[in-house]
Amino acid sequence: MNTLNGQTVLVCGGAGFIGSNFIRLILSRYPKVKVVNFDKLTYSGNLDNLKDIERDSRYTFIKGDIADEKAVLNVFKTYKPHYIANFAAETHVDCSIHVGAKIFIQTNVIGVYYLLEGVRKHKVKKFLQVSTDEVYGSLELSSKVKFTEKTLFDPSTPYSATKADGDLLCNAYFRTWRTPVVITRCSNNFGPYQYPEKLIPFFVMRMMEEKKLPLYGDGKNVRDWIYVLDHCRALELCLLKGTPGEVYNIGASSEKNNKEIASEILSYFGKDRLWLEFVADRPGHDRRYAINSSKIEKELGWKPRHSFQDALHATLEWYVHNRAWLNNIKKKAKHFNSHIKTK
Ligand SMILES: NC(=O)c1ccc[n+]([C@@H]2O[C@H](COP(=O)([O-])OP(=O)(O)OC[C@H]3O[C@@H](n4cnc5c(N)ncnc54)[C@H](O)[C@@H]3O)[C@@H](O)[C@H]2O)c1
Repeated sequence: MNTLNGQTVLVCGGAGFIGSNFIRLILSRYPKVKVVNFDKLTYSGNLDNLKDIERDSRYTFIKGDIADEKAVLNVFKTYKPHYIANFAAETHVDCSIHVGAKIFIQTNVIGVYYLLEGVRKHKVKKFLQVSTDEVYGSLELSSKVKFTEKTLFDPSTPYSATKADGDLLCNAYFRTWRTPVVITRCSNNFGPYQYPEKLIPFFVMRMMEEKKLPLYGDGKNVRDWIYVLDHCRALELCLLKGTPGEVYNIGASSEKNNKEIASEILSYFGKDRLWLEFVADRPGHDRRYAINSSKIEKELGWKPRHSFQDALHATLEWYVHNRAWLNNIKKKAKHFNSHIKTK
């Protein structure tokens, strides 16, 4: 099957950052697809992310929790999805440290279990578990080593530990019941509609408020950045053509440290380095992530299409031109990353 036309895709967590970009992408590419977005609308879920497509007759929104067994079974029975892409997760590392791990276990582990049970009992063609490179732990700054799909799990935070648990369950369901699961592990995303607790939109918001940019530790922690639409195209390929039981790493070979990202944002807003502020480091802060994505490139023919510089510029422009989107979020949540103690 090389098309999603005529298929129903259940997108769990589709009101968040990556899920909403994914829904928009597949609706634009497949005129005859049906999309059911099943989302609990936690603080990071936002129906404003999908305002432009909310009246599309191919799109249905259902408010629900993947960790609610009855609600999950009901969605499977009612919509009989052919494909499932699971984005639903508690995603903020700092919350998993400062607020607590319980909700992370509920959604990222129990929720995945209920979805897998649904897939096992119904005739779903493929279940895509959208995971993260953070399950692999940290790399040395000085090394050239990158994560491959065979790198052993070594998660450092409750967030990454629960994502690793979800991945392990998926793997076990494939081995035990041949449940058609594909796992993807992607590096740090950036782009439109990202909740402003995450680094790039958080820094943009601080600039707009004329506040300094706080950098954890020495600011040299490295992430391998990817534009969200490149990630979403990779996910579309994995959903259609990924081999069940396989894992695909996704990354754009764009390693940058936090200080470099902050400097790019400062220069976009015409500010100098005096607008940087170093703050106490995050506990368990992974030093470096780097992704080897040669498997998805060779097997599925994927390559990132956006350069980091162009995509970052487009992203900053998007936030500046969509202040109303940001302001609506700010009205609901007055504090972002309030555990960070700035002067
Ligand atoms: N953002 C990144 O850089 C990145 C990188 C790699 C992988 N990922 C993975 O991609 C997925 C999406 O990440 P994101 O950045 O879009 O996150 P996000 O926080 O923006 O969105 C998460 C969405 O899931 C929903 N949700 C949370 N708990 C739920 C539940 N119990 N039931 C139903 N819906 C629920 C939220 O309401 C929200 O809409 C996550 O699984 C994350 O682990 C993210």
